[in-house]
Order: sequence, then C-alpha cells, then structure tokens
Amino acid sequence: DTQNQFDADALTLNRFVMANTHDHDLVILMNAIATSCKLITSAVQRAGVAKLYGLAGEVNSTGDDQKKLDVLSNDMMINALVNSGVCAVLVSEENEEPIIVPPGRSGKFCVAFDPLDGSSNIDCNVSVGTIFSVYERRPGSNGTVEDLLRNGGSCLCAGYVAYSSAVEMVFTFKGGDVHGFCLDSTIGEFVHTRNKMVFPEDGGKRIYSANEGNSIHWDQPIKDAVELFKSGEKAYAARYVGSMVADIHRTILYGGIYLYPADNKSPKGKLRLLYEGIPMAMIIEQAGGIASTGMFEGKIQSVIDLVPDAIHAKCPIIMGGKRDVQVVYDQYKKAG
Ligand code: AHG
Ligand code: MN
Ligand code: MN
Ligand code: MN
Repeated sequence: DTQNQFDADALTLNRFVMANTHDHDLVILMNAIATSCKLITSAVQRAGVAKLYGLAGEVNSTGDDQKKLDVLSNDMMINALVNSGVCAVLVSEENEEPIIVPPGRSGKFCVAFDPLDGSSNIDCNVSVGTIFSVYERRPGSNGTVEDLLRNGGSCLCAGYVAYSSAVEMVFTFKGGDVHGFCLDSTIGEFVHTRNKMVFPEDGGKRIYSANEGNSIHWDQPIKDAVELFKSGEKAYAARYVGSMVADIHRTILYGGIYLYPADNKSPKGKLRLLYEGIPMAMIIEQAGGIASTGMFEGKIQSVIDLVPDAIHAKCPIIMGGKRDVQVVYDQYKKAG
C-alpha cells in the first residue's frame, strides 16, 4: 500500500552504527567511509559522460595498471578519511606506502582499503566495488604500519560496497551479524535492507566461481575439486564476474564457492590480504561460511589467522559455504 512507500523511521547506516557502538569516533569514521562510497558511486555512474574510462598511466605496487577511476576513487577515500580526524594510518591498494595522517588531524583508527575493486570491469560498466577493514592503533602507538600488520582477529569492523544494478554496502562489526544497506539515491543515504545475512542453510545454489583460465597452473586437489563440481550428480553452474565484491556478494546470497587459489605461477595467490582477504574473510565467516587459504605454505589455513608481512602481502582465497569448501578440503585429504 502507498502509505508504506515512505518510511518515516528509516534505519540508515549512520543510525545503525550509532545504535551498535558507544564509540563516537567510529560513528565519524563510518560516516566518512559512507560519504566516500557515495562519491565513488557518482563517479562510477557518470564514468562515461565524465570521460573517466581508461588508464591513468601508472602501475601500482602489486603490478596492476591503474585506471583513472582507481585513482579518483582512491583520492575520494583518502580525502574523506584524512579529514575525518579519526584516522592515524591508511593503507590503500593504490598507494605503495602507507599514509600517516599528520598530527593535527590524526586519530585512533587505521584503515586498509581497496578503493575500487574489479577495475578491469570499469570500461564496460560491469559491477565494481570498494572493500575496507578497520583497526585501532595499539596502546602506546602513534600510528605505524605495525598497527595494521596483525591478523584478522584485530579487525574491528569490515565492509564492502557493490556498485551494481543497485549500490549496496555489506557491513559487520567484529563478532557480530552481517547487515546489508542499499543506497537510496532519493535521500542519499544507505538504508538497512538485509538483516543478519547468512549463507543459505542447505548450501544454496551449486555455483563455483574462479578464473578457470588459470586452471593449468592449479594444484591437483583444486583441479579435482572443480572437476567434481562439474561432473557430480547435481552439476554446478560457473559464474565469475571478475570483481571480487560482486562474486563474493553473490556467493553469500545464493550460495556456492569462490576460489582464487595459490598456483605454480602465483604461489601466494593474487588477492591482497589486508584490503581484500581479511575483510572478506571476516564477513564470510560471520555469515556462516568458511574463508580458507587452501594449501598455502605447506598447510591449510584460515585467512583470518594470517599475519601480513607487508601491507600489500597477498593470500590465496577459497571462500564459500561449508558444503562446497568441504569438497576442496576432501580433495586435499585424499591427496595426503
Ligand atoms: P582490483 O581491481 O581491486 O585490482 O582487484 C582485482 C581482483 C578482484 O577484484 C578479482 O576478483 C580478481 O582480481 C580478478 O582477477 P582475474 O582478472 O585474474 O580473474
Ligand atoms: Mn588493482
Ligand atoms: Mn580488488
Ligand atoms: Mn582495486
């Protein structure tokens, strides 16, 4: 009925954060992150008309060719976070070095982010994203990279934003439930739209998601697991956007498994631990899934337990519902 089309009591992201923390600085931080994601939304949606397609001409520290929109999104996040007054250290995919916030504007948070995820999809208007993880300075520290080079257990909260047919932020506090907020462009606010997101109880849709073009480089158990997905009684569908945010978002909502494993070409995988691996692992696990490295440096590890040895350290990723990650574990067991 028409009465309900206007919510006089909208649970905005801002209100949700205020209701779930007593830390006013965290409210300010999340407000700054949300603002930068609205700016990025505008840039992504106007990329064609604003002539923002194409390369910026530089290569970042993990070897990616930077797109104009990578650089712009990065500037938007850095400006919002530095000026929030609550950040000490920022680590971005697009900055070789960490950003140490000058004393006058420094605060207690350390934020790692991937300002624009899936940048190979920009120029054809396919879904892209933003990923962030938030830490607090260790006691006595004025803010150094060491405050971020800790395992995922130290992460206070994490989230991602999908810029897609709708713009949606998925966010969780450490140890809490996972919530979804859609950007309502008529009010310019993220509004709570998904309560306590969890993987489908029965495992959900049978979907595997990997860049299978790399399969000749995979180890045998990964090859075998994917073969099993394809040849099982109930064959799996393949879905791969090539933007981690979009692929993970679908995996949580529909079920399935996402793999970017270590292989003999990239022994540490491709994805970056601080601003891709850990935040996504935290969200996946708090939604009832598993975030594993697969076989990595001789053992199967939890992504959340890894300690980055550098800000741009990489990690292999095998994430998804329990039913499907178990198939991979079984193949490792069989291989001995
Ligand atoms: P980014 O665009 O932030 O550099 O991230 C790219 C990542 C991730 O989004 C995606 O899942 C993966 O790289 C795609 O890699 P391939 O092109 O090798 O499949
Ligand atoms: Mn990149
Ligand atoms: Mn990325
Ligand atoms: Mn990126």
